[in-house]
Amino acid sequence: MMTFTTISKIDTSKDFILPCYQGYLKRFQKYLPVEKPDFDAEFATYQLIYGQKGNRIYLLGLGTTKDANKIVRAFQKLAFDNKKFWKTAIQVNAETLSSEEIMKAAIGMAMGEYQIGQFKSKKSKESPLKIEFASTKSIKQLVEEGSLIGQTINRIKALVDAPANHKTPEFLGAWALNSAKQVDYECTVLHKKELIEQKFDAVLSVGKGSIHSPVVITTKYLPRPKEAIDVGLVGKGITFDTGGLSIKPSQNLHYMKSDMGGAAVVLGVVELAAKLKLNCNIVGVVASAENAVDASSYRPGDVINSHSGKTIEIIDTDAEGRLVMADALSYIIKTFKPKQLIDLATLTGSVVRTLGNSAAGMFTESAEMADAMYTSGELTHERVWRLPLYEDFEEDLHSDVADIRNFSGKPVAGAINAAKFLQAFTEDHPNWMHLDIAGVAFGDSSFSKMKSASGFGVQLILNYLKGLK
Ligand code: BES
Ligand code: ZN
Ligand code: ZN
Repeated sequence: MMTFTTISKIDTSKDFILPCYQGYLKRFQKYLPVEKPDFDAEFATYQLIYGQKGNRIYLLGLGTTKDANKIVRAFQKLAFDNKKFWKTAIQVNAETLSSEEIMKAAIGMAMGEYQIGQFKSKKSKESPLKIEFASTKSIKQLVEEGSLIGQTINRIKALVDAPANHKTPEFLGAWALNSAKQVDYECTVLHKKELIEQKFDAVLSVGKGSIHSPVVITTKYLPRPKEAIDVGLVGKGITFDTGGLSIKPSQNLHYMKSDMGGAAVVLGVVELAAKLKLNCNIVGVVASAENAVDASSYRPGDVINSHSGKTIEIIDTDAEGRLVMADALSYIIKTFKPKQLIDLATLTGSVVRTLGNSAAGMFTESAEMADAMYTSGELTHERVWRLPLYEDFEEDLHSDVADIRNFSGKPVAGAINAAKFLQAFTEDHPNWMHLDIAGVAFGDSSFSKMKSASGFGVQLILNYLKGLK
C-alpha cells in the first residue's frame, strides 16, 4: 500500500529518485557519489546508482520538452519495475519540477502500484510504502491530488481487466453504489424491473441473451444542488461482447471483457470529482448489459423499441454498443438536461483501424468543446482526434421498416456511422460529444504480457472538467 507525503528536503542517506530532463544532469551532481554517471536521460529510462550508505539513487530520464506531457509513464515505469526493492519509503526530488510535473509524477507513482494479477491464488505481498515528495515549495495538494487520480485510475483498470464472469452488469452497479457510499455522492441503479417500467427497450434487447440482467447506473456529484447539471457523462458498459447472434470470431474474443471501458471512465471520473471536490455539477449514466448468444438473444432483422420512442431495425447484433448508448443518451437528456453531454464508448473496430492505439475518435458539432477536449488530450497525453459528423452519412442509417437501423451494412466509415447513430438520440443537443475509445482503452502495454486496460480517459475528462468556466 502506497501512501503519499511531502518533505522539505531529500535525505541523501536514504533511497531517492532524481527526475531529470536531457542535458540537465549537471544540476544533480551534488546528490551523486560519482562524477558524470552513464546516463543520457532518455524518456522513461532510469539508472540506479548506489550511494555511500548503500542507499538507492535513481536517475529518471524525462527526455526532452516534447516528452513533457507524457511523464506520467516515466514515473509509472520506474515505480512498477522497482517497487519490490523499496523498503519503507522512497523520496522523489520535486524541487526541479513544475506544478503540473509534480501532479503527473504522483499520478505515475500511484499507477506503478497497479497489480494486474487480482485473480491469482498467490497474492504478491504488499507492505506499506511511503512516497515522499521533496520540495521547499508547498506541494502537498498537488501530491495528494495526483495520488488520488492515480489510485482511481488503478481502480477502473482493475474493473476493465476483470473477467466477465466476475464483472456482471449488477457487479458494476454494486461497485458504483459502494463507491458513492465511500466517497459521499449519489448513486442509483435501475434493475431489470425498473428498466422494463421505464422503457429502456434497447438496453433490454441487448441484454436478452444473457443470464446476467442489464442495469442502468446513475451517479451524481452535485456540489451546487440547486443549479443546472454542467456535464452529463455517458458510458458504454458491455461486460462482454460476443457479438450476439452476429457472433464474433473466437480469436481475441476474450478481450471483449474490456467492452465496458467507457463505463469505467464515467464511474471513475464521477468518483474523482467527488474526491477532489470539483466545483461542477456532474451526472454519470452507465448502460450495462452482456451481449451473449442464446435462444432468447435478439436477432438481426428484429425491430426493437427504445427509451426515446424511436424504433430500431437490428441489422447486426454486434453493433450493440450504440443501442445501449442510445437509451442512456435519451435518458440523461430527458431526466437531467445537462448543459454539456460527453459519451465514452469502446464503440467500433473502425476507429481502431483509423487511429490505432494513439488517439480516441472525437465527434462533436461544437468547435468550442472540440478545442477544449483536444487541448486536454495533448496536456494529459490522452489524445483525441476529430472526425466528421457529415449529413452525408444519414441515409446509411435509413430503414424501410423502422425509424432507423443500427448498421449501414457497408464496410466503410464505421466509426462515423456509429457516431451518426448516437447523434439521432441526442435530440440535437448542441453541446454533445462522442468519444470512441475502442483503440485506446485496452491494448498492448509495457506493464503486462497480454493486452490490458490503460485507464485512458480519466485524466482527459478530469482535466477538461477543471477547465470549464
Ligand atoms: N465492442 C465492439 C467494438 C470494438 C472492437 C471494441 C474492437 C474494441 C476493440 C463493438 O460492439 C462492435 O462489435 N462493433 C462492430 C460494429 C459493426 C458490426 C457495425 C465493429 O466495429 O466491427
Ligand atoms: Zn459488438
Ligand atoms: Zn461492443
